[in-house]
Amino acid sequence: MLSAEDNELVCRTGPGTPMGKLMREYWLPALLSSELPEADSTPVRLLLLGERFVAFRDSNGEVGIMAHNCPHRGASLFFGRVEDGGLRCGYHGWKFDRAGTCLDMPNEPAESNFKNKVRARALRVEERGGIIWAYLGDRETPPPMPHFDFFDAPSDEQQVVAYQVECNWLQPVEGDIDTSHFGFLHVGHLDPDAAPEGSFLRHMLEDRAPRYRVIDTPSGTSYGAYRPAGNDSETYWRIAHFLMPFYTMIPVGLLGSARSFVARVPMDDTHTMVFLAHESAKRVNSDLAIDDDSFAGLKTLPNTTDWYGRFKSARNIGNDFDIDRDAQKARTSWSGLQGVPLEDRAMCESMGEIVERPNEHLGSADLMVIRTRRRIMKVVRAHEKDGTVPPGVDDPEAYRQRSGGVVLPNGADWLEGTKEFREGRALPDLDPALSAGV
Ligand code: FES
Ligand SMILES: [Fe+2]
Repeated sequence: MLSAEDNELVCRTGPGTPMGKLMREYWLPALLSSELPEADSTPVRLLLLGERFVAFRDSNGEVGIMAHNCPHRGASLFFGRVEDGGLRCGYHGWKFDRAGTCLDMPNEPAESNFKNKVRARALRVEERGGIIWAYLGDRETPPPMPHFDFFDAPSDEQQVVAYQVECNWLQPVEGDIDTSHFGFLHVGHLDPDAAPEGSFLRHMLEDRAPRYRVIDTPSGTSYGAYRPAGNDSETYWRIAHFLMPFYTMIPVGLLGSARSFVARVPMDDTHTMVFLAHESAKRVNSDLAIDDDSFAGLKTLPNTTDWYGRFKSARNIGNDFDIDRDAQKARTSWSGLQGVPLEDRAMCESMGEIVERPNEHLGSADLMVIRTRRRIMKVVRAHEKDGTVPPGVDDPEAYRQRSGGVVLPNGADWLEGTKEFREGRALPDLDPALSAGV
């Protein structure tokens, strides 16, 4: 559990809040490149850490992200026109480039130099891996971008799925690192003999109460969940990571095989934009893995221009996520919900917009959640107290990690025994088919 005070501390990310100030130290995934498909494309309303922006692509194809209120008298630049290297406000025609420089002030006398004194608030922007990244912080020169191994994948194999979760950002983060739910929410309906002998899924179905090791890492926390590997001499380890401030690497496939990450970016304190980046060719085909088919369960609606209109799902708490009670009763599905991402989203949103953590009862299966909260709180307090630079901000290489499953001899050191796999330098000597589906 967390006290009500600590729960507020970790959940609130608006301007001026301790967690909000911490998150503004990092580069943030803001929107998909495909949301601004071409030069001079229509502006998009963008909500990030409770602040309102407009994003546009200028005539050179470069992205600009600006505070949505025009610095003149506050009309929304969303209603402006993207033209000839900038965005022109609809109200009095002031025009700004992507850096916030005022290029034109046509309602002032020609001899006025007022336009040299006014700037629009513009964020620093990078575009990488099909994602547009923004820096909201105070540094004159932004920190380096985190170096995810995903960025090194061939660009035609970089896939990013975005979807909105209608609750606080920490709930889905904690869902990602809470591995024991997998044996229930996602595969609780399966008997062990439904899975091939020796497969990771079989090990999970034979023992749904794994034990844990958890550690702090340079950029966050990691866990190793372990259980017997179907014999007396080996142990199946499922290893995954949390990386500051809101990234996870979920343990899909063989340890080290996937270049992927998940970002749970606060739009505000009760809405989260998820970016799930993965390398398509490396994914093991399975009806249980998070693949394109299982994303169909989210039923993402066409984007609208509403502040909350991006990557919203038709299935939500208002229609009980279309739960199929017959399937649930017949145990053809544990949850009655369609697909892994929808199952995860539904559980997070069902907690309420911000879950009341003082009411929780955490058990030994929640060790990783507990460790990660402690790590975040320690970091946010140190940052608030004396401006300590948070982990990972100046350490891009700390983001080059891999997750997944592996089988080790009983008693082997799980960290030493997996270092080269976690660093993506080698793969375990195991048939990848054994990792199918988990
Ligand atoms: S409010 Fe934008 S130009 Fe006047
Ligand atoms: Fe899950």
